[in-house]
Amino acid sequence: MKLDVLLGLQWGDEGKGKIVDVLTPKYNVIARFQGGPNAGHSLEFEEIKHVLHTIPSGIFHPEKINIIGNGVVIDPVIFREEILALKKYNVKFNNLFISRKAHLILPTHRILDAASEAAKGVTKIGSTLKGIGPTYMDKTGRNGLRVGDIFAGNFKELYGFLKKKHSDILKQYDFQYDLSKYEPEWFEGIEMIKSFQVVDSEFMINKFLAEEQSILAEGAQGTLLDIDFGSYPYVTSSNTISAGACTGLGIAPNKVGEVIGIVKAYCTRVGSGPFPTELNDETGEKIRKIGHEFGATTGRPRRCGWLDLPALKYSVMINGVTQLVMTKPDVLSDFDTIKVCTAYIIDGKEVQQFPYDTNITIEPVYKEFKGWKKDITQISTLKELPQELLEYIRFIETEVEVPFSIISVGPDRKQTIWGVI
Ligand code: GDP
Ligand code: IMO
Ligand code: MG
Repeated sequence: MKLDVLLGLQWGDEGKGKIVDVLTPKYNVIARFQGGPNAGHSLEFEEIKHVLHTIPSGIFHPEKINIIGNGVVIDPVIFREEILALKKYNVKFNNLFISRKAHLILPTHRILDAASEAAKGVTKIGSTLKGIGPTYMDKTGRNGLRVGDIFAGNFKELYGFLKKKHSDILKQYDFQYDLSKYEPEWFEGIEMIKSFQVVDSEFMINKFLAEEQSILAEGAQGTLLDIDFGSYPYVTSSNTISAGACTGLGIAPNKVGEVIGIVKAYCTRVGSGPFPTELNDETGEKIRKIGHEFGATTGRPRRCGWLDLPALKYSVMINGVTQLVMTKPDVLSDFDTIKVCTAYIIDGKEVQQFPYDTNITIEPVYKEFKGWKKDITQISTLKELPQELLEYIRFIETEVEVPFSIISVGPDRKQTIWGVI
């Protein structure tokens, strides 16, 4: 049995949470492989919208196993809040497992994130300030604390040691902070994690595969935020690409099956960094308003723009995408014209390749499509979709040479159209 990977092909917020929830009935296990509470994965059913940060999006299916993999970084405070919020909806956690190798976000990691961003001034990344960068830095710097450490008799000592390291670094910054509220909450969160099933998830996952159980690996963020292949340095600190599922769960590359890439019908980005097709005009404003493009984690307005094909082709290549899912075409239903960027003009030359330095002046070359001007949110079969939308979808498929297998026409579980166009 192979493990399928689902991930975002743009700058995050493509609708991964909704699609994982929709696909969960097809799988036995859902596993998050990277990122942390910088993620905000929304899913909607029975008129209620849930936003998950650390917990996999299969959690609303009680019979399914959900795993927080070793590649994830966990903030015990946010984890606890998430659990308490879900308990109100009677969600059961007996099938939730946490890798003992997942790293912990300390209160001082959050402070370091904030101090580092403040010091960067105008060059700031626009981080979610959840402590993601500093935690992954400690992981690769071999200083980090892992979930497995919380059971050690000297955990408080290990914590104090790392905290001291951080407070020494913080002395370099002119940054005021106060841990008096957050630290006790953090230890409450640690106690809560102790009450969960903490496991060697790499053994568990490989055993599941050997037993022919189907697994879906859930990515966070998006390919263009990948630490190696994204628009560096305006990226997150983990490998968001399909290869990240191997290191973030402990599975071999030859165990990866389908790679499902989620594409929003247009582009959004939250935080700083290059965005070639960004619309700083009324059209961008209209997309933001109709698409409710505000961050699920920070509430910040998302920057909006047209679909970027060179970037999408790049993402498909890096991930080895085998199936595409389109989300939010319904947001474009009111537009007379829809544009797609097919190439870039850089230094007077037309280029197709996503450039090394995306921080330069890039002028998009657009192809225009006629809008469908029809509400599609109640449509449930492909053949009912307007011809103009089908043309838009077919054009993308032909260009990237990967078929769409799902078209999402609204945030609710039910607003999902299956089938190959
Ligand atoms: P994720 O981080 O990739 O899981 O995406 P987010 O949850 O941050 O952002 C996607 C937003 O779009 C959420 O508010 C979803 O409820 C919503 N959404 C998902 N799919 C669709 C869709 O097809 N149409 C519309 N209108 N909204 C959608
Ligand atoms: P999901 O999983 C969109 C962005 C931040 C910032 C950059 C670095 O919901 O798609 P970080 O907090 O990681 O140091 O921030 O990455 N970012 C996201 N943007 N969706 C996300 O997650 C994001 N996670 C981080 O806005 O620009
Ligand atoms: Mg999100």
